[in-house]
Amino acid sequence: MSVCSSAGILGTGHYAPERLLTNFDLEKLVDTTDEWIRTRTGVETRHLAAASENTSDLCVKAGWKALEAAGLTAEDIDFVMVATASPDYVVPSTACLVQDKMGMKRAGGMDISAGCSGYIYAVATAAAMVKAGLYKYILVGAEILSRLVNWQDRSTCILFGDGAGAAVIGAAEEGFGLLASDLGSDGSMGSILNIPASGVAEPVTHRAIDSNRIYIHMEGPEVFKAAVRHMENTTMAALEKAGVDKEEIDMFIAHQANNRIIQSIAKKVGIPKDHMYVNVERYGNTSAASVGIALDEAVRSGKIKHGDIVVITGFGAGLTWGCDVMRWI
Ligand code: UT7
Repeated sequence: MSVCSSAGILGTGHYAPERLLTNFDLEKLVDTTDEWIRTRTGVETRHLAAASENTSDLCVKAGWKALEAAGLTAEDIDFVMVATASPDYVVPSTACLVQDKMGMKRAGGMDISAGCSGYIYAVATAAAMVKAGLYKYILVGAEILSRLVNWQDRSTCILFGDGAGAAVIGAAEEGFGLLASDLGSDGSMGSILNIPASGVAEPVTHRAIDSNRIYIHMEGPEVFKAAVRHMENTTMAALEKAGVDKEEIDMFIAHQANNRIIQSIAKKVGIPKDHMYVNVERYGNTSAASVGIALDEAVRSGKIKHGDIVVITGFGAGLTWGCDVMRWI
C-alpha cells in the first residue's frame, strides 16, 4: 500500500434501536415535563437499546449499511475503529467485538475514547491512517448511553439516547474527502462531565454503586457554555486550516446534544438554517454516534451531494472537541 494525497468518507450508515422513550414516558419516571424538556433541550423522543443489544451490535447494524453504501464487503476492511464512551467491556475493545461479528478477518481494531467528540476524532484518525498508506479501508462507528445514566437524575436521564453511526473511510480523488481537521482537549475540566467510578482510579464498589458514582455526572450549565465556545472555536480553526470560508459551507452538522447549543453555534459561526442538519428531537444526545447518525440521514435524504463542503463538529467528556471539514466524495 502506498501513501495517497486524499482520504475521506466513502459511505455512511446508522442504526437506532426500535424502542422509543418519549418525554411523556419520562414524566412518569422523574419530576419533569414534556414542555421543560422540549424548550430546554429540543428533545422529544429517543431510542433505547433492548436488553439483548450491546454497543457492538448497534455498530454492526450501522456498519453493514455503511459498507453497502461504499460498495464494499467486510473482507475489504483492514481496520475497524469504534469511538465510544459506552464500550461493551473495558477490555476487550468494542472494535474487536465488531471485527468478529462482521467477519472482518483481515482487520486490526481499536476503540477511541474521546466522549461525544469520538466520531470527529475517528474520522480524522482514520483518514490520516489511509493517507499514510497504513490501511486501505477503515470502518468507524459508535455507542449506548442509556445504561450509564442514573434514571432517577432528571438533569441527565432526559438527555441521552442510544444509536450508532458508521462510516467507511478510504482514498479519495485529489481535493475531495477530509480537507482539514482540528482536535482539542482540556483535561483540567474533566470533572464537569464524567463517570466517577469507572476505572482504576475509583473502581466500581458497593459504595460507588450506592452513591450513584457509576453513572454520568454532568454540570449542565458549565458543559453548555464550554460546548458552545469550543465548537465555535474549533469550527473556525478547522475552516482556516482547510482554506474554506464559512459562506462556502453547504452542510453543517454539530453534535446533537441540545438544540439551543446547536442554534447558538450556528448563529456565532454564521450558518443559515437551510445549511444545517438537526435531528436531536428524534434521538436525544447519542454521544459519539450523534454526528454519524445525522450525517447519514442528511446523505440519504439527498441533502449532501458530491462536491459539497460538509463540516462536522463535536464536543464532549474529556473535555474534548473537534471539527472535520470535508469536500464530499
Ligand atoms: O454531550 C456532551 C455535552 N453535553 C451537553 O452539551 C449538555 C449541556 N447542558 C445542557 O444541555 C443543559 O445545561 C441542560 C439541558 C442539561 C440543563 O438545562 P439548563 O437550562 O442549563 O438548566 P439548569 O441545569 O440550569 O436547571 C434549571 C432548573 C433547575 O431548577 P431551579 O434550581 O432553577 O429551581 C433544575 O433543577 O431546571 C431544573 N431542572 C429540571 N426541571 C424539569 C433540571 N432538569 C430538569 C428536568 N425537568 N428534566
